[in-house]
Amino acid sequence: MGQVSRIVVVGGGQAGGQAVDSLRREGFDGEVLLVTAEDQPPYQRPPLSKDYLAGRTGLDRVLLRPAEFYAESSIELLTGTRAASIDPGAHRVELATGRTLDYDRLLLATGSRVRRLDGMPGAHLEGVLYLRTVEDSDRIRAAMDSAERLVVVGGGYIGLEVASVAVEAGLAVTVVETLPRLLSRVATSELAAYYAELHRGRGVDLRLGSAVAGFRDDGSGAVGSVALADGSEIAANLVVAGIGIEPVTDLARAAGIDCENGIAVDSGCRTSAPDVFAAGDCTSHPNAFFGRRVRLESVPNAMDQGRVAAAAMLGADRVYESEPWFWSDQHGVRLQMAGLSEGADRTVLRGAYGDESFIAFHLRDGVLIGVDAVNSVREFIFCRRLVAARARPDPDALADASVPVRTLLPAR
Ligand code: APR
Repeated sequence: MGQVSRIVVVGGGQAGGQAVDSLRREGFDGEVLLVTAEDQPPYQRPPLSKDYLAGRTGLDRVLLRPAEFYAESSIELLTGTRAASIDPGAHRVELATGRTLDYDRLLLATGSRVRRLDGMPGAHLEGVLYLRTVEDSDRIRAAMDSAERLVVVGGGYIGLEVASVAVEAGLAVTVVETLPRLLSRVATSELAAYYAELHRGRGVDLRLGSAVAGFRDDGSGAVGSVALADGSEIAANLVVAGIGIEPVTDLARAAGIDCENGIAVDSGCRTSAPDVFAAGDCTSHPNAFFGRRVRLESVPNAMDQGRVAAAAMLGADRVYESEPWFWSDQHGVRLQMAGLSEGADRTVLRGAYGDESFIAFHLRDGVLIGVDAVNSVREFIFCRRLVAARARPDPDALADASVPVRTLLPAR
């Protein structure tokens, strides 16, 4: 491989932020440039719908690395800067400012953008908001200070976490979800039913199987109510839509790089273009656990791919192979999920849905393929390892809370 003296990373989310850090940790002492459209250095997004939104933690606590890290590590951080195009043949990135950056290796860590309701009547009214960036979270937080009634559109993680924070802040909250249940992308129907009960118990009005038809003006250019497809109307002075995300692949597509539900990468985060790598939400990768190519919307995936991409850009043959895992905080309840529940032929419960804490173990042909753990933070570490080990634990032991999960790990 050719000499690597300059690496450009486009995208300052968790994948890009991790990658530049990893490049230095791997001992790379050439030039590193991080181009990010955001005004902040890389930060963690999960707190933006949890503690950060609730005002319990500040920006300095959510930054991936302290602001001074980049200068100290001789990483040129270009905030508020968009890459306009890339030219893999010429090994060049053109920025929106017109400046061009030549590279030896390029990492695309362009992340995702939120789906929007733009086509819907009233979608542009003041008070119809989305949550992806720190500024979005600040905006919602500020709006919650004066709003009394919030309608959340979308019953996924984002919507439900925002609902939880808003209820705690004293707002009246309605969640409108098109599908007949919550968390349909990620959770079993039993877990979704548990979450529906949890939210209802805290006073959230859940409208499942309901479609939004539009937003009505309160007379001042701000939202005053939400119209549903069934003709009903819900008063609201704040709307937060969390209706999913889509990968940002524009730069890659325009450069002719293969995309398949995200920028297609191999297990070393290589794209179809020489010397161009990609990591994080914007990618799909061949995943041994799923047995197919997948795009994972998760922080652990972004961090792990960021590390693998950094090593791969330096010529190491590192392979990304992790089981997916996620977490969510709602109404003081911590959910952690590992692996997949989809495709399970048996579910074993430790405890019961609705208990203070419980774990659902999902098995297929006796192999543990997924775990949903509620308020079981210590046990979850071992649950993840069990899933990673493709273990065949004894179902009776799984169900028995007196058996530590750790003891079910296969001997190495
Ligand atoms: N009206 C109501 N509900 C809708 C609409 C709509 N027009 N369109 C989609 N939905 C619902 C979907 O059925 C789904 O339940 O919105 C929900 C979106 O859930 P997710 O796909 O999980 O997306 P979101 O909650 O926005 O999270 C986005 O942030 O926390 C991360 O892991 C999360 O990567 C994900 C991202």
